[in-house]
Amino acid sequence: MKTKWLFGLISFGACLVIGVGPAMAAGIAGSDHDFSGSSWSGGKICAPCHTPHDANTSVSGAPLWNHAVSVATYTVYSSTTLNASVGQPSGTSKLCLSCHDGTVAIDSFGGATGTNMITGDSNLGTDLSGSHPVSFTYNSALATDDGGLFDPATDTTSLGGTIDEDLLIGSKLECASCHDVHDELGNEKLLQINNVSSALCLTCHDM
Ligand code: HEC
Ligand code: HEC
Ligand code: HEC
Ligand code: HEC
Repeated sequence: MKTKWLFGLISFGACLVIGVGPAMAAGIAGSDHDFSGSSWSGGKICAPCHTPHDANTSVSGAPLWNHAVSVATYTVYSSTTLNASVGQPSGTSKLCLSCHDGTVAIDSFGGATGTNMITGDSNLGTDLSGSHPVSFTYNSALATDDGGLFDPATDTTSLGGTIDEDLLIGSKLECASCHDVHDELGNEKLLQINNVSSALCLTCHDM
């Protein structure tokens, strides 16, 4: 009885030390995108990316955008087997690149021009030829053309809906198809679906 109680106390203590268990606490607070601890953020979490008023409307579909937008031209992925037509990044992918292409400071928001650039592996640069294609329509016709893709209109994901409902934005594949910018799911690398055993890849690729 006493040993059991002591064990319970120790495991409870261990949980407090390591957090909530193997999965990280979900949510934007404390995630890679929580800049409220940076001196330049004014202690705000949402403001580097969103504003309730005077938003930047230059990118269509942008959610009340507050960050300066990149004007870079990108080298995009191409291959002899690619069926999709992939143009310049647009939509919400363009919003991610407004920090992740390394041409605009992280703290350039709300009309201010910042000085802190993104560094390391998080800086994808403007040459995206080695990155998974984004900003193209992924529909049933593309799945038929390709032959190695699930049908986004009918095939489902582990999140509970179809690929189109859960991962596409206006039927397009974007950065946010694979990444959860607000870290609501708490997966490594902000992934929409944990990629253990390539589960994320195998959600769309039928191989
Ligand atoms: C690092 C940038 C960043 C931060 C910080 C951020 N967001 Fe977002 N948010 C985005 C991007 C990019 C999108 C569009 C892509 C998407 O929806 O996944 C978005 C979409 C949204 C949307 C519309 C789609 C949805 O998910 O409902 C809402 C609402 C939103 N954000 C609210 C917030 C709030 C509230 C905060 C602060 C607690 C916040 N965001 C912090 C980048 C950010
Ligand atoms: C306001 C600037 C900003 C915007 C907008 C932004 N990010 Fe980030 N992101 C960062 C910074 C800064 C980091 C942390 C880099 C570090 O710690 O090395 C980061 C981290 C990440 C990471 C985790 C990297 C890792 O190694 O764990 C991913 C994935 C990511 N962002 C994807 C996105 C996606 C996808 C979008 C758009 C939906 C987006 N980001 C929008 C600034 C931004
Ligand atoms: C098809 C899915 C997919 C798409 C689309 C995608 N990513 Fe990723 N991304 C991943 C995976 C998976 C990882 C983790 C790779 C690893 O751990 O080696 C990753 C890693 C990252 C990282 C961390 C850097 C690193 O090397 O680990 C950043 C930052 C990032 N992605 C940003 C973006 C941005 C910005 C876009 C859009 C331009 C994007 N991603 C599009 C799947 C994707
Ligand atoms: C949301 C769905 C989705 C996810 C998740 C996804 N992909 Fe893709 N991927 C696609 C689509 C659609 C294409 C375009 C195929 C085409 O047009 O030939 C593509 C293209 C590719 C290509 C280029 C194919 C070519 O013919 O050049 C490769 C390789 C690839 N994906 C690998 C991956 C890997 C690895 C992962 C996991 C890290 C991943 N994909 C995750 C949907 C997805």
